[in-house]
Amino acid sequence: MKILVFGATGPTGQQIVSQGLELGYKMTAFVRNSEKLAIRHPNLTIITGNVVDPKKVQDAVKGHDVIMSALGNGRSLKGDVFSIGSMNIVNAMEESLCKRIIIMSAFGVGNSINEVPILLKIIYKTLLKKTFVDKAIGERYLKQSNLDWTLVHPVILANGPKTTNYKTGKCIDIGEIPKISRADVADFMLKLVDDQTSLRRTHVISY
Ligand SMILES: NC(=O)c1ccc[n+]([C@@H]2O[C@H](COP(=O)([O-])OP(=O)(O)OC[C@H]3O[C@@H](n4cnc5c(N)ncnc54)[C@H](OP(=O)(O)O)[C@@H]3O)[C@@H](O)[C@H]2O)c1
Repeated sequence: MKILVFGATGPTGQQIVSQGLELGYKMTAFVRNSEKLAIRHPNLTIITGNVVDPKKVQDAVKGHDVIMSALGNGRSLKGDVFSIGSMNIVNAMEESLCKRIIIMSAFGVGNSINEVPILLKIIYKTLLKKTFVDKAIGERYLKQSNLDWTLVHPVILANGPKTTNYKTGKCIDIGEIPKISRADVADFMLKLVDDQTSLRRTHVISY
């Protein structure tokens, strides 16, 4: 099994790469700057490129069985890397033999905003509005495709350890300030690789 990870230098992306290697997968990290990726391993291939470049994405997708994305704008409140990246990845996959994709988006995107606790809802609709619009556009590309997609909607991300002790599902019970560690998001995304019941579904993940 060969897994290609976009956003591999981000804090969740690095977790996906390292946990995937521990599970024995052949991992490929798509990165803008290889120096930002601390992991080196015989089963790790590094591809340098920018996800806004369709040709680079097309070349990267070739030869992989599963694509994962933890793309994002980092601390920036603007940017469209999620939507442009998703569009380029979807287009590249539709031209390739690889059909399985697991994408990390965010709880609160699209209709899930109706389930967000009130305080967070205000923040998502004001301060983080552009980020959520970007993600909604990206999700639309994915949902309109014929790919075997799974969308993961984490609640607020934290840098805690992998616990494997979390709740997932279309609609789960979360508190007022719900949290999940990036390590557990990576654990869940890797568990979805072989989960045929998760195809064309969105899963919320939270403690
Ligand atoms: N913070 C939260 O509470 C929260 C909650 C739910 C969901 N999320 C979402 O979860 C996702 C992952 O978050 P995170 O904090 O782990 O990661 P992050 O800090 O947003 O990292 C994003 C990754 O995307 C890469 N990237 C950005 N632009 C790129 C481009 N043009 N070409 C190639 N790669 C590019 C970055 O590469 P560089 O290292 O080169 O910059 C980095 O590896 C994000 O979409 C975030 O919005 C966040």
